[in-house]
Amino acid sequence: MNKQWVIGILLVVLAGAVMFMMQKQSSEPIVYDDEQKGLNKQIVIYFSHVVAENTPKGLAAQKFAQLVEEKTNGRVKVEVFSNGSLYSDEEEIDALLRGDVQMIAPSVSKVTQLIPEWQVLDLPFIFENYSDVEKVFTGEVGKKLLAMLEEKGIKGLALWGNGFKQMTSNRHLLVEPSDFSGLKIRVMPSEVIEKQFQLLGATPVVVPFNRVYESLEKHKFDGQENTISNIYSKGFYQFQSYLTISNHGYLGYAVMVNKAFWYRLPKDIQEKIMEAIQETTIWNLKQSKLQNEEELAQMKQNKRMHIYELTKKERETWKQKFAPLYKEFEREFGSELLRQMKEAE
Ligand code: SIN
Repeated sequence: MNKQWVIGILLVVLAGAVMFMMQKQSSEPIVYDDEQKGLNKQIVIYFSHVVAENTPKGLAAQKFAQLVEEKTNGRVKVEVFSNGSLYSDEEEIDALLRGDVQMIAPSVSKVTQLIPEWQVLDLPFIFENYSDVEKVFTGEVGKKLLAMLEEKGIKGLALWGNGFKQMTSNRHLLVEPSDFSGLKIRVMPSEVIEKQFQLLGATPVVVPFNRVYESLEKHKFDGQENTISNIYSKGFYQFQSYLTISNHGYLGYAVMVNKAFWYRLPKDIQEKIMEAIQETTIWNLKQSKLQNEEELAQMKQNKRMHIYELTKKERETWKQKFAPLYKEFEREFGSELLRQMKEAE
């Protein structure tokens, strides 16, 4: 055999070996498993949310991930993406419906765009205290609201909480309804919240959560409503030194998964996930209250903040101002849901 023949045969053998290796690699499934448990069988849930990690939702998401991993012996891995790093609040419901993520927990206000009856949870003063919230969120009304998501392609797992919303401004303290007159206020996309500010003579402006900091910094609006936890963790207080403790509304979250994804899961896995979600919900509803209280105490240390708590009488004045919202809700959706809420509390 001459030299050229030998080189030719070697090249053919080498090419065959390379092709074999490439084919082998592409036919092997890419396994996501950082601890080599249950190779090939691990189910990965991408859980996307928009708030900071050290908030009631951020902490609950991490706790849920940990419980799911423990309860399923690592068969299910929940990957949590905080701070809108995967999707903003404007994008996350569509991403869930497309199946690009498996799990999200948008604020209930954002769900009102899909299911208008959910506005009941956004009515000002619908909850008097944390115990009312817990009864509604974990009781029959909560179940009824979550069931409404099914026809939209979503499986609702639970209602979590952040806390009561307060009013902030860069102008002055907001105490009397007339203090809102002429102000531009950032709001979440919810008709009832927009109307709430219109009744006060202010102009509501819908801005996604991930743009609130920047808009406040640039003085694009004069005020906003949010929980102490969000005001503190996102640093909104730096540009809003007037804070009114009004507890006028409640910021809750709808914890949801893509419906097709959910019904493809084995029954035993669904059960373990439900156990984890229920444990997390009980923990979250207690933890969120503590966290808002602790962070309010921190903010009170800040000498630049002007903090005022509404008196009982002032709250009554606000309630009267907002009464038309209840009438309007009843006109549009009937009185049943409202009655069930009040009965549950
Ligand atoms: C959230 O807590 O998920 C966001 C609330 C907001 O948009 O103000």
